[in-house]
Amino acid sequence: MTDLGDFSRSGGDDDSDTSESSPAATDEFDADDSDSAPVASDSDATDRDGAGDDLDDVGDFETTSSAARDDDRFDTVPTDPRGTDTGIGTLSAAEGLRIGEDEDETHVQAYVTADNREDVRVGKYLLVPYPDGEKLFARVAALEYRQEYRVDDATEIHSKRAMRRDDIEETDYKLMADLEPVAVLYEDGEGPDVELKRRMTDRVPKPKSVVREASDKPEIKTGLKMPEDGVFLGHLSVGGEKVRTAAEPPTIDYRLKDDYADGDPLVFRHTLVAGGTGSGKTHGAKNVLRQFLADERRYEMEDGAERRAAVVQFDPQDEYAQMHDDNPDVTREDERKWEAENVAHGGHDDTVAFVPKVGNSSYAADHHRAEQVEFTIPFSMVRDRPWLVAGASLNDNQYNALTLLIRRFFDQFGDAGTYREFVDYIDDPALREELDESGRVHEATYDAVKRRVIGSAFADVFDQDARPITDQIRSFVKPGQLTVVPTYHVNDSRATEVVVLALASLLVDEKLSNAPRYDRVKETPLVVGMDEAHNFLTDADSVQARKVIGKFTEAAKQGRKERLGLFLITQDPQDIHEAVFKQINTTVVLNLGDEDAIKSVNIPSKLEGKVPYMEKGQMVVYSPDNSEPVEIIGLSKCVTKHGRE
Ligand SMILES: Nc1ncnc2c1ncn2[C@@H]1O[C@H](COP(=O)(O)OP(=O)(O)OP(=O)(O)O)[C@@H](O)[C@H]1O
Ligand SMILES: [Mg+2]
Repeated sequence: MTDLGDFSRSGGDDDSDTSESSPAATDEFDADDSDSAPVASDSDATDRDGAGDDLDDVGDFETTSSAARDDDRFDTVPTDPRGTDTGIGTLSAAEGLRIGEDEDETHVQAYVTADNREDVRVGKYLLVPYPDGEKLFARVAALEYRQEYRVDDATEIHSKRAMRRDDIEETDYKLMADLEPVAVLYEDGEGPDVELKRRMTDRVPKPKSVVREASDKPEIKTGLKMPEDGVFLGHLSVGGEKVRTAAEPPTIDYRLKDDYADGDPLVFRHTLVAGGTGSGKTHGAKNVLRQFLADERRYEMEDGAERRAAVVQFDPQDEYAQMHDDNPDVTREDERKWEAENVAHGGHDDTVAFVPKVGNSSYAADHHRAEQVEFTIPFSMVRDRPWLVAGASLNDNQYNALTLLIRRFFDQFGDAGTYREFVDYIDDPALREELDESGRVHEATYDAVKRRVIGSAFADVFDQDARPITDQIRSFVKPGQLTVVPTYHVNDSRATEVVVLALASLLVDEKLSNAPRYDRVKETPLVVGMDEAHNFLTDADSVQARKVIGKFTEAAKQGRKERLGLFLITQDPQDIHEAVFKQINTTVVLNLGDEDAIKSVNIPSKLEGKVPYMEKGQMVVYSPDNSEPVEIIGLSKCVTKHGRE
């Protein structure tokens, strides 16, 4: 017997006996009474969902077992009624059992029986039956120990005794689980057409209903509103452990809606992957992007045609061209599992690295076998996008002067005008004087603009010795092709920014234009992926940042219609402009330590709390149009090559 038990027992047994057990039930603990255990198991087996009187039997055993311990004689009784429990405990109405419209009007608590306490964790999914077969699907929101009997355990003697042993007498305490109702599950239809559905929690379960851990795949998927089909992201988990069921495979696949059945495929409503350094962003992003490129995946365009998506991935660390190659660590067993879950895997043959030629930099590609194509940014692209050469520090007045100069330059030189010619053009004192005298551009403004636009980064980016990207659009964007734009070899962040923004805005402009120059972009479902997106979509206060954000926000808004999906990856989400965030439907967050970063991704607080504790590959997904907010674990292996030896 435990010391603590001794303290509390005096009045305790009386309490519990009067509230729970009948005299007969107490007798049942007599070893001679062979009826007792079978009675309990029968009732449990035949009335699993029932919330009726039978359940009292379960309670009786608990109570009497502690009573039995009063007498040493009973300690050896082998009958253990717990073996037949079908749940983890029962609902309690002791402090009210209430379901309301608002979360704070809701109070659902379960008593967790002693032998289930180790397994019950915050976040776990539970089911509580209603008498007519409907079920309440709920999450454990909090767990609390309470004393079974009123005892002041903050005393020297309790504490000393407790310090000499390493467990407690569970039955001296109640473990109460606060449940957060998620949905009511019900069956719709009859016979073979019966369908499991969910609706708002609009009814309260009966007190003493048996609470079970949810372990049935359809019930969990329906409860969490998780789509059956779509793009595979990972497996449902709670506290870093995959949720398992009796089905084969036992894990529960989390997918993003990818059809037009209700709403548009979520890829065209934009995705953000945020996570700290080394949290598994790129590994996870490759696994998702690979799914968009699956052979059979098609998206319907506005003209009714169905086409495969093109993926264009901006790649500052030169990691994504490896998606061309198989992951050498993948075994036949891995492949078998992925196939069973319809996960696209293996190197994607149709992968091309579009390598920007910038100054003297050279690209070394010994870590992948994807085809390489060189390109340059023609200065003509600046004609419609003067902000590309505005840099971060032009004020509005200076920017107006810049646009005037660019316009006049191209009027004179046409689309063939080069950056070098532009530099010569504005280096002309006569032009400076003319604009100043006519009151169009003040001398000081002119000089400021000139200082900005004449720089080595621009000289290295524009009109290099390679084919202009504008001549290669048809091979740059191709249905079913992964196009990677590595920029690691470009040793100048300014130059990198111009390359990425020029290409990204070219794609976006073509998608949004009513009179596109290149039908290919307009007609192809397109996913634009951007790693280290905070470098390009910053909330910096500059003309360029404003133009870029305006453009991307607009693109994001039109994405559903035009089949343009943004797939942004970042370790510094707090540096991405808020307007872009607002357009993002699916937020995937891996481990993030920084508090500002966590706040900035705007996920429900119950997910926020998990973020700093997540291990590599663990993520939370907030995608309100797809499912309830959940935690998942991505595949532990990359489905394509990732990493350098
Ligand atoms: N789910 C996972 N299971 C096991 N290992 C993983 C998982 N996800 C990622 N890793 C491994 O962790 C390492 C870091 O992952 P990754 O390169 O994706 O990180 P990252 O967040 O992109 O980091 P960085 O900030 O450096 O870009 C890699 O070796 C990767 O293979
Ligand atoms: Mg990375």
